Amino acid sequence: MLRYLAAASFYKLFSLNPLTRKIYQFSGNIIGNFYRKKGSLPQSYLQRVYWIKDLLDRYHLIRENTKLLELGTGWAHWESLVIRALYDIEVTLFDVTDKRQLGAFKKFAFNLFRVLHQMEYVTKEQLQKIAPMIEEIQKVSTFSQLYKLLNWSYVLEKSGSLRQFPDNAFDLVYSYNVLEHVYQSLLPEYICQIRRVLKPGGYSFHKIDISDHFTNYDPKASEKAYLRFSNKVWKTFFENDILYINRIQRSTWLQYFEQSGLKLIEENSRYFDIQTSIHNQHKDLNDDDINCVTLYLIHQKKHE
Ligand SMILES: C[S@@+](CC[C@H](N)C(=O)[O-])C[C@H]1O[C@@H](n2cnc3c(N)ncnc32)[C@H](O)[C@@H]1O
Repeated sequence: MLRYLAAASFYKLFSLNPLTRKIYQFSGNIIGNFYRKKGSLPQSYLQRVYWIKDLLDRYHLIRENTKLLELGTGWAHWESLVIRALYDIEVTLFDVTDKRQLGAFKKFAFNLFRVLHQMEYVTKEQLQKIAPMIEEIQKVSTFSQLYKLLNWSYVLEKSGSLRQFPDNAFDLVYSYNVLEHVYQSLLPEYICQIRRVLKPGGYSFHKIDISDHFTNYDPKASEKAYLRFSNKVWKTFFENDILYINRIQRSTWLQYFEQSGLKLIEENSRYFDIQTSIHNQHKDLNDDDINCVTLYLIHQKKHE
């Protein structure tokens, strides 16, 4: 638990004020870029290639003029990069903080090419198109050049509001490890906005990590260590603006999506025996809520 507490204190400290948050973001981008540029493709990123490709194919999302919106695109624009490597479709990238790392992005694009080469369901024609694209990516020196090359637009909106996007604009809105970071008070409205910007018949794909993110620093801590604490203790000692997690549980996620008017099409959630004591305030949670650590949710906006 010592590592867990150290991680929590670290994030709390850097969340202190706008200056400390800026310092964290600036140095985080430099350090992240440095290590990712040197490293290889993590296994989890490989699995994400299969995840997004399988969904796009199964839900027949690759058509002429398909428009996609990625929420919380982070530093690698990973799902969007996979999609853009395989299909020539328009993507909008959305984020609330600028986490972009050009050197790391270029290295990951290069590694992606090698991975796609080994996937039997990537066609020869696709590979022939990808090779020059990856080469061109290696030559860009700014993100503006990159976005022009890939026909992407990047939207940075600190408030997190999706209101600037028109109604019925996208065929797909997707995110990976993002929705758990949206402030709890904003979330029901945020999901309604996802529905609003989707075209009728459009889909929403989200992978939501509802585990306690401090356990990344302390493998011995329970995946749901945050359930040990009362809401007050969590807010006072652990909640912070840099690594904010909303601690919303599976049944509430399903409820929010349902209330927005989106229809659940597929759920592939992951459960663990989380083995932790649970504070009285969370005693009403059912077993599924307690043991669910990851949600993979697919919803559709039905035609009126
Ligand atoms: C853990 S990172 C994941 C980044 C990326 N999806 C990936 O998997 O590499 C979480 C991302 O969510 C973004 N984020 C947080 N709140 C958001 C919001 N309200 N709307 C969109 N993105 C948000 C953060 O800025 C960050 O880029």
